[in-house]
Amino acid sequence: MSQAVYQPKVIVEPDACAAGQTVAEICQTEVLKQPGITLGLATGSTPIPVYQKLIDQYKKGEVDFSQINTFNLDEYVGLSGDHRQSFRFFMRDQLFRHINIDQTRVHIPDGLADDPDQHAAQYDALINQLGGIDWQLLGIGSNGHIAFNEPASAIDSRTRVVELTEETIAANARFFDSPVQVPRRAISMGIGTICEAKRIVLLATGSAKSDAIAAAIQRPPTEDCPASLLQYHRDVTYVLDAQASAKLR
Ligand code: PGA
Repeated sequence: MSQAVYQPKVIVEPDACAAGQTVAEICQTEVLKQPGITLGLATGSTPIPVYQKLIDQYKKGEVDFSQINTFNLDEYVGLSGDHRQSFRFFMRDQLFRHINIDQTRVHIPDGLADDPDQHAAQYDALINQLGGIDWQLLGIGSNGHIAFNEPASAIDSRTRVVELTEETIAANARFFDSPVQVPRRAISMGIGTICEAKRIVLLATGSAKSDAIAAAIQRPPTEDCPASLLQYHRDVTYVLDAQASAKLR
């Protein structure tokens, strides 16, 4: 039996700032509706404007984050949470230290877990134990990856240890002093895990993402473009800037 394919909602904004604002407004609406919501959060350059707007909302007293739970998509294996390039450090620096989040409700894979495979399986189980992710924010790689699910990742993959591709290592090298310092492995939520989120918003900005966006939305779903597998999810919204949307027809 073939699986149903759904059309995502696509919102195009003029620039990255406006796209970030739109995603932050969607997120705010979700938190206001459900104060104890479980959010799935992403790292990278793309969500930074979203986090800045969420901080603004909090500072203006428009939203209360004290009851939310969060699960981050991924973390590098081998980096401690204090390492400046770890995703735990990023989240603290870019969002958590500026808002009234309860640290005990924050979940990010532990890059220094003694047994990363076991830790990944436990992380996946914990998402389910806490009732699943209500609203998931995603970025996309120029190769179509979501989280660290690189091309050829299985549609039913779970949170696990993954090897990064050379393309992703090269893309992330800008944050490290040299490419050799970029970790080669990460713990990443799987595509199956991500697709269990109730609602998904994928934010993409900049021309480097335009081919991946066209493939994700307009070509048949294939494991060669992990984001295209989101077509099997019935509630996905793409928020794009003009550049990222440029190759959509
Ligand atoms: P970026 O990364 O936001 O830094 O472009 C996105 C991703 O690789 O998922």
